Amino acid sequence: MEPFICKPVSYSKTSLTELMIPSYANFGGKIHGGVILALMDKIAYVTAAKHADAYCVTASIDKVNFLQPVEVGELVSLLASVNYVGHSSLVVGIKVISENIKTHLVNHTNTSYFTMVAKDENNRPVLVPGLLLETLEESRRFYQALRRKELKKHYQDEEKQMLAPGTINEYTRLLQKERCKIQL
Ligand SMILES: CC(C)(COP(=O)(O)OP(=O)(O)OC[C@H]1O[C@@H](n2cnc3c(N)ncnc32)[C@H](O)[C@@H]1OP(=O)(O)O)[C@@H](O)C(=O)NCCC(=O)NCCS
Repeated sequence: MEPFICKPVSYSKTSLTELMIPSYANFGGKIHGGVILALMDKIAYVTAAKHADAYCVTASIDKVNFLQPVEVGELVSLLASVNYVGHSSLVVGIKVISENIKTHLVNHTNTSYFTMVAKDENNRPVLVPGLLLETLEESRRFYQALRRKELKKHYQDEEKQMLAPGTINEYTRLLQKERCKIQL
């Protein structure tokens, strides 16, 4: 096997803290999920581009479950690192926490995995450096990202079969216990 350039996880580790201002709020007075997503996309780009030394695009996001609402006036911090690299793709793991400035109460908002793809000047996927794993935790994250990728592929294949179009009789049978009516 040819020797290849590896960069340590620490090289591209990135953090970002932002104050949640009133204009970020929804009608319920909580912070819009989209604001958090935009911050996540930003930090995913910075982390991936640092590792790849190249322009990167977001290919997919796995997955976004908001565990706690974020309030106006709180500090939201994002911690990101490259968890896995393929050929041109990288998985950036992002942990989001919110902190109440007065009480210092910290909530874990979500953890998500962004798959980014490095591109060359001609917009073609380009090889990224390997990842130097220096701790047990970094090794665990790389392994788990690899398994998640396999599971996703498996799930996508299953989904294709499961979602194949059916007949109206089949839908009538399959949906008989659901809260819907078929009325053609
Ligand atoms: C994502 C994208 C680069 C894939 O391009 P492609 O020509 O299909 O590239 P390939 O099939 O050669 O795949 C390149 C890599 O991306 C990975 N990839 C492609 N689609 C993916 C997806 N949906 N999820 C995760 N990884 C994906 C492949 O596994 C491959 O990884 P590897 O090089 O590490 O083995 C391309 O579809 C694209 O540019 N999409 C738009 C991205 C964008 O604009 N994002 C911002 C949204 S506003």
